[in-house]
Amino acid sequence: MPTTRRYLMCPPQYFAVEYSINPWMDPSRPVSRDLAMRQWTALHDTYVDLGHKVDTIEPQPGLPDMVFAANSGTVIDGRVLGAQFRAPERAAEADFYRRWFLENGYHDVVMPTRINEAEGDFAWAGRFLLAGTGFRTDPGAHAEAQEILGVPVVSLQLIDPRYYHLDTALFVLSEDEPNIAYYPGAFSGGSLRVLQRLFPDAVIATAEDAECFGLNGVSDGRNVILPLEATRLGAELAGRGYEPVFVDISELRKAGGGPKCCTMEIRG
Ligand code: ARG
Repeated sequence: MPTTRRYLMCPPQYFAVEYSINPWMDPSRPVSRDLAMRQWTALHDTYVDLGHKVDTIEPQPGLPDMVFAANSGTVIDGRVLGAQFRAPERAAEADFYRRWFLENGYHDVVMPTRINEAEGDFAWAGRFLLAGTGFRTDPGAHAEAQEILGVPVVSLQLIDPRYYHLDTALFVLSEDEPNIAYYPGAFSGGSLRVLQRLFPDAVIATAEDAECFGLNGVSDGRNVILPLEATRLGAELAGRGYEPVFVDISELRKAGGGPKCCTMEIRG
């Protein structure tokens, strides 16, 4: 069953690909800010139409990746763990989000001491937090998240540079009966065994599902927002009783992002 969610998003007003900090970003390839804005607006309106509450934060000039709100906070039970970016180009984003939380009534806001790209590498699975490392978030940030948020953290090792954040390789489908979809090729052998143990009934994605950012989905327990190219994955999810909802994210993908990257979930 779907549950109503609260999301924080940032319009791509200053979106660009001016530097390259992941294999998807090619600064020599043109991007259309207008098209990015139309795609982002369609994603935003999709959430609203599904009944979710969406807040927005003011975008900032000089921060072209600020549209990827998922990277700036992990919020569970009203407790906010902020971000610390690996790339200096993104470092300033973290404090704008910290201030947004303080201005919007969140008083329990802690900034991490380790590199921590928030929901880029953290996925709340209902009873525990799945946490990726390997390219961005420091493994020390996993222990820090457990201590600050007070939830069990399960560390997972990412091994493919194209899937540099956990949310490019895995997403949570449902939290009450925890289940996920993931692309096995993105994980180390030991992490795969952990995922098989925790989620024997998981949806196993193909290389094609992953390449179009199909694992960057957003589920409310029933509706699953997916990039429009993720037709195979969408059909498999429909077969399991989920409702795929397709959005075009072609411009955002040029920065290495998709629906989930644009969407921070605020829990509690
Ligand atoms: N260009 C951004 C970066 O490389 C994309 C971030 C995508 N966000 C995400 N949650 N995966 O940092």
